[in-house]
Amino acid sequence: MLVQNNVPLQAYNSFHIVAKAQSLVRIASEDDLREVLQDPALADEPKFVLGGGSNIVLTGDVKALVLKMEIMGRRLVREDERQVVIELGAGENWHEVVDWTLQQGWPGLENLALIPGTMGAAPVQNIGAYGVELQDRFESLDAVDLSTGKALTLNAAQCAFGYRDSVFKHDSAADVALGQQAIGLKGRLAIVRVRLALPKVWKAELGYADLQKRMQLENCSSPTPRQVFDWVCAIRRAKLPDPAEIGNAGSFFKNPTVTPEQCADIIGRDPAVVHYPLANGHIKLAAAWLIDACGWRGKSMGQAGVYPHQALVLINRGAVDGADGATGGEVMMLARAIQTSVYERFGIMLEPEPVVV
Ligand code: EPU
Repeated sequence: MLVQNNVPLQAYNSFHIVAKAQSLVRIASEDDLREVLQDPALADEPKFVLGGGSNIVLTGDVKALVLKMEIMGRRLVREDERQVVIELGAGENWHEVVDWTLQQGWPGLENLALIPGTMGAAPVQNIGAYGVELQDRFESLDAVDLSTGKALTLNAAQCAFGYRDSVFKHDSAADVALGQQAIGLKGRLAIVRVRLALPKVWKAELGYADLQKRMQLENCSSPTPRQVFDWVCAIRRAKLPDPAEIGNAGSFFKNPTVTPEQCADIIGRDPAVVHYPLANGHIKLAAAWLIDACGWRGKSMGQAGVYPHQALVLINRGAVDGADGATGGEVMMLARAIQTSVYERFGIMLEPEPVVV
């Protein structure tokens, strides 16, 4: 086991914020993880599990021991007339796995193409796009308890998935105090493998307006899974900055959900507000629209900016490998200024989506 000290993290976070890990260990297998947890010098150290770094804001050097998850592996677990179950190592790149499943003839993940990050991080925020969320294809995951070293398997119910949410984002003590969720596993586990269940009877999910537009544009009403994959890639490339070129962490805020009464109040303030009714009677508001309406699109504070083509995405205006980029503090200052102006105008407090470290 090699513990590296003062490791630059700029290349390991998609915002490309300059920060260091005081110490970092690469975890290529479950045995590597056990070795760290059994090491007398490391066992009691605070630990931070790092995947693709595509959903974090680093606000300084990381003092906890960074466990960089690099466990690879893709295999078919079982196949029956209903579904194909596959198992993926936590370090696998999400998008490459989506592409691979299509090559194998196992569709079902195509709407989630081009989402940055790793397999192990996907359940943490229940990644979602174009009408499909990870939870729709999730079977179970294997994890290791960072304090006891014990291996455990969690099913979907135990992961408590919600919109960009799971048990892995909640701190149990804080949430009990808030009266929300009794069990939180934030920072307590390292996810080592994820199993996905892909339905044998495939039906394209084309409900989102952007995909409807593509169907018309291409004059194609029954696309193949690969076509849907290509469409999703094209839509994302047109709207979202590529983290390899412009530092960002995707959508910076969650789309808020409001009651019909709250929505009526907001429509009273601005009739153009983009909103979608949900099955449970609540209404989802487009956070991008709220931010845009407050005039933030294309604006910046220091080196942190609002992406000109999608107001929900905050960007680092510095070079991805330069020293002149935004600090995590600048990103958070911009985020707070956006929250304040959206709150003052619409009475809605936007909730940040990435994890602030
Ligand atoms: N809009 C504006 N101004 C903008 C951008 C968008 O007014 O600058 C309005 C448009 O009317 C648009 C609406 O906002 O119709 C919604 O925008 P978009 O379709 O781009 O989707 P989104 O709600 O902003 C969500 C996810 C994305 C996901 C897309 C597609 C969240 C927080 N974000 O974005 O996820 O790719 O839908 O499903 O739910 C991510 O989580 O990092 C992410 C990129």
